Amino acid sequence: MAPRDMLDFFVILVVATSVIATASCKLSPSYYQSTCPKALAIVRAGVAKAIKNETRMGASLLRLHFHDCFVNGCDASILLDDTPSFVGEKTAAPNNNSVRGFEVIDAIKARLEKACPGVVSCADIVALAARDSVVYLGGPSWNVGLGRNDSTTASRSLANTSIPPPTSNLSALITSFSAQGLSVKNMVALSGSHTIGLARCTSFRGRIYNDSNIDATFAQKLRMKCPKSGNDNVLQRLDIQTPTHFDNFYFNNLLQKKGLLHSDQELFNGSSVGSLVKTYACDSGAFFKDFAKAMIKMSKIKPAKGSNGQIRKNCRKVN
Ligand code: HEM
Ligand SMILES: *[C@@H]1O[C@H](CO)[C@@H](O)[C@H](O)[C@H]1NC(C)=O
Ligand SMILES: *[C@@H]1O[C@H](CO)[C@@H](O)[C@H](O)[C@H]1NC(C)=O
Ligand SMILES: *[C@@H]1O[C@H](CO)[C@@H](O)[C@H](O)[C@H]1NC(C)=O
Ligand SMILES: *[C@@H]1O[C@H](CO)[C@@H](O)[C@H](O)[C@H]1NC(C)=O
Ligand SMILES: *[C@@H]1O[C@H](CO)[C@@H](O)[C@H](O)[C@H]1NC(C)=O
Ligand SMILES: *[C@@H]1O[C@H](CO)[C@@H](O)[C@H](O)[C@H]1NC(C)=O
Ligand SMILES: *[C@@H]1O[C@H](CO)[C@@H](O)[C@H](O)[C@H]1NC(C)=O
Repeated sequence: MAPRDMLDFFVILVVATSVIATASCKLSPSYYQSTCPKALAIVRAGVAKAIKNETRMGASLLRLHFHDCFVNGCDASILLDDTPSFVGEKTAAPNNNSVRGFEVIDAIKARLEKACPGVVSCADIVALAARDSVVYLGGPSWNVGLGRNDSTTASRSLANTSIPPPTSNLSALITSFSAQGLSVKNMVALSGSHTIGLARCTSFRGRIYNDSNIDATFAQKLRMKCPKSGNDNVLQRLDIQTPTHFDNFYFNNLLQKKGLLHSDQELFNGSSVGSLVKTYACDSGAFFKDFAKAMIKMSKIKPAKGSNGQIRKNCRKVN
């Protein structure tokens, strides 16, 4: 080979190797196109069926993805059941008696294992189910990159500390999201998820008895449902107006001091972040666009220790 050809050869070699390397770990919306062409349709049908049966399930599936991704990446670690010899994330403080949708994921996984055994990861199912839920309830759509692996481990202690509690102040929220590579704007847009779904009395008790930045009538009504002690599991709407429709009313509520969680109202309490809340409250297009962008970013959070995962056969346990 002439020196010039040698150089070309090495350039081509290097380029080809790097393409292969990124192709195997970069997420792609068409990842299952040849190995499981019906995968996306199966997930969508499973989500639609579950929401038709119970409208709240759309909210629960969206939250499941968030709680998966914030604990060592979007790797379905949250789906692993506790056993006598294994402590998982389901019973961590932010999840216990609160996170739901496991049976829906199981049903979808069972259908996928019939159609294409051992191919579609549980982590991808959760990411797709979150998107399909938002779309079903009237929100924006986006392309979900696919090709995640499922973890072989889980961390209850990381789940306890990485998922922000509803008592968080603004700076704690910003710190928590920034630790995941998410900006303040991402954080405000993603909080718009609270335009759907429900919260337990125990999650907003401090807000309705102790906060000063709350609408008096709103607080009074909530105190009747959620006493100072007892009724911990009584549910209330995160968006008092349209809890089963994905819209921008959540932000309107904040402008009226009608955020249900202390952490919600922190986004509109005299800080510079408040101007984003105002923007989203009067421009649902801007909210939808930023929400979709932020969901894509959140769904790319990677496990810290890289990719030595697997495609679980049963989402509740490692193979
Ligand atoms: C900004 C920090 C956040 C805090 C402090 C927070 C906290 C909470 C709390 C306490 C609940 C009620 C849980 C219960 O009482 O059982 C809840 C519900 C919910 N959260 Fe968040 N959340 C945050 C961000 C997010 C994000 C980023 C998403 C999604 C991308 C999300 C989606 C949801 C949904 C959809 C529900 C309703 C779930 C259902 O009805 O089953 N949240 N959140
Ligand atoms: C339908 O929703 C109810 C709760 O409202 C739940 O108990 C039941 O398991 C669900 N059924 C199916 C088939 O999803
Ligand atoms: C989870 O909730 C159940 C039922 O309320 C309770 O018995 C259990 O102690 C809780 N687990 C943890 C780790 O807090
Ligand atoms: C996590 O939270 C649960 C429930 O509050 C608690 O039982 C547990 O001790 C906490 N810490 C760890 C490391 O699991
Ligand atoms: C916000 O909360 C954090 C953690 O609880 C606390 O350390 C900090 O002092 C609080 N900041 C403000 C401004 O209240
Ligand atoms: C309200 O604040 C007081 C004083 O800080 C505290 O003792 C109490 O536990 C708080 N109540 C709730 C429901 O958080
Ligand atoms: C909200 O802002 C007001 C006025 O700046 C302040 O007094 C209050 O402590 C802040 N937070 C809450 C939860 O009321
Ligand atoms: C999944 O794991 C395989 C091998 O275990 C690896 O080649 C691939 O890069 C991993 N994918 C991701 C997205 O981490």
